[in-house]
Amino acid sequence: MNDYLQSTFGLAGRTALVTGAARGIGLAIARALGLAGARVAVNDLRAEACAAAVAQLQAEGIAARAACFSVADAGAVAAAQQALQAAGWDVDTLVHNAGNQNRKPLEDMLPAEWQQLMEVHVNGAFHCARTFLPAMRARGFGRLVLMSSVAGQATMPLIAAYATAKGAVAAFTRAVAVECGGHGITANAIAPGFVRTAFTAGLQQREGFEDFLRTAVPAGRWASPEDIAPVVLFLVSPAAGFVNGQTLAIDGGMLARM
Ligand SMILES: NC(=O)c1ccc[n+]([C@@H]2O[C@H](COP(=O)([O-])OP(=O)(O)OC[C@H]3O[C@@H](n4cnc5c(N)ncnc54)[C@H](O)[C@@H]3O)[C@@H](O)[C@H]2O)c1
Repeated sequence: MNDYLQSTFGLAGRTALVTGAARGIGLAIARALGLAGARVAVNDLRAEACAAAVAQLQAEGIAARAACFSVADAGAVAAAQQALQAAGWDVDTLVHNAGNQNRKPLEDMLPAEWQQLMEVHVNGAFHCARTFLPAMRARGFGRLVLMSSVAGQATMPLIAAYATAKGAVAAFTRAVAVECGGHGITANAIAPGFVRTAFTAGLQQREGFEDFLRTAVPAGRWASPEDIAPVVLFLVSPAAGFVNGQTLAIDGGMLARM
């Protein structure tokens, strides 16, 4: 990487935590940040899944370590932050990507099921931001990217809880940006369209969905995790130092379509 690219998009000396990074979009983000020079802590729910992702990243020359916890558990997030700090990993770059889904009619959704989505997307964002922000504030530098979705801005049947949670993530991102922007911290959200991962396995099987995508998405195709990860790299890079409080759609033009 030449000096210009290093000073604009390079992440040498940075320490990132990516939640929900054992697979899918999160793993692609961890890989992108790592290849740009950051050390990457890989979070997910299961220790074996974290270890496998870490091994995969290390095989590509990336400095990676596992940080296994549920983002929905405030105590576990705090314990992970302490363990990382004790190991000399002071997180300056937080990507809250972990997410869950439960597609069903609104009237059939139980309060506990609704709550499960809020716990991961919304409370998870809060627990992670609240835990990792103080050190960023003390350092006078920090980068947060939170995972919203096009579903936070436009929706479809059966995803009321998910749409609500993703809208809240975008609102929370603006709150962090406004409250912490004076301390060298930026917070931005991304809003992917339909990405081909295990998360959308049901949609990938659904009859007629490919036709819907060809009509609804000007790009006419699914996104891949590799369409999403470089945008996160941009948002946490020096190049995006004056981008704050935004929710950036990565949707092949879907939301722009009349
Ligand atoms: N795939 C899409 O079309 C799409 C579109 C827009 C937004 N998103 C969002 O992108 C993010 C990643 O999605 P993906 O497609 O890679 O899905 P995925 O299911 O492949 O990955 C999500 C990861 O999050 C982990 N996770 C779930 N709950 C967790 C918790 N409490 N603590 C820690 N980790 C947890 C899962 O174990 C999994 O590894 C999610 O927030 C999702 O809502 C996905």
